[in-house]
Amino acid sequence: MLAVHVLNGPNLNLLGAREPDIYGHATLDDIRASLAARCSAAGVELVFKQSNFEGDLVTWIQEAGAAGAPVILNAGALTHTSIALYDAIKGSQATVIEVHLSNVHARERFRHHSYITPAARGVIAGFGPMSYLLAFEALFANAIRKT
Ligand code: DQA
Repeated sequence: MLAVHVLNGPNLNLLGAREPDIYGHATLDDIRASLAARCSAAGVELVFKQSNFEGDLVTWIQEAGAAGAPVILNAGALTHTSIALYDAIKGSQATVIEVHLSNVHARERFRHHSYITPAARGVIAGFGPMSYLLAFEALFANAIRKT
């Protein structure tokens, strides 16, 4: 069965309670549930993970790359700091769609730069939990394969 790996970085476990004016009221579990429903309708396996640790995300990106599985990645603040995540994507040749709940370009200047973007297939930001679903649709339209 085809699989998509949805990887979430630091502080995304706090969704629902965290700055709801910016991130809304949906929890990470709500996002997982909506993706699970969409994946099951599409016959795609969902692997959904969150960690506050950069190394976990490096390992998970490497694993997805090795399995040839595409990744929907919300790296949280690591987006703006992590050369290690950039290297993991490049090194493992994982197909990654970078997602953000908020429109990072309409926020503080330090959120305007992403280390993920140059290694990503595409970027979706600003649509709340729907950013994840839009990323899935983009991948699905590409038949969940490496292109
Ligand atoms: C975020 C945006 C990042 O700047 C921030 O550090 C996050 C969440 C988003 O989904 O909007 O943790 O990735």
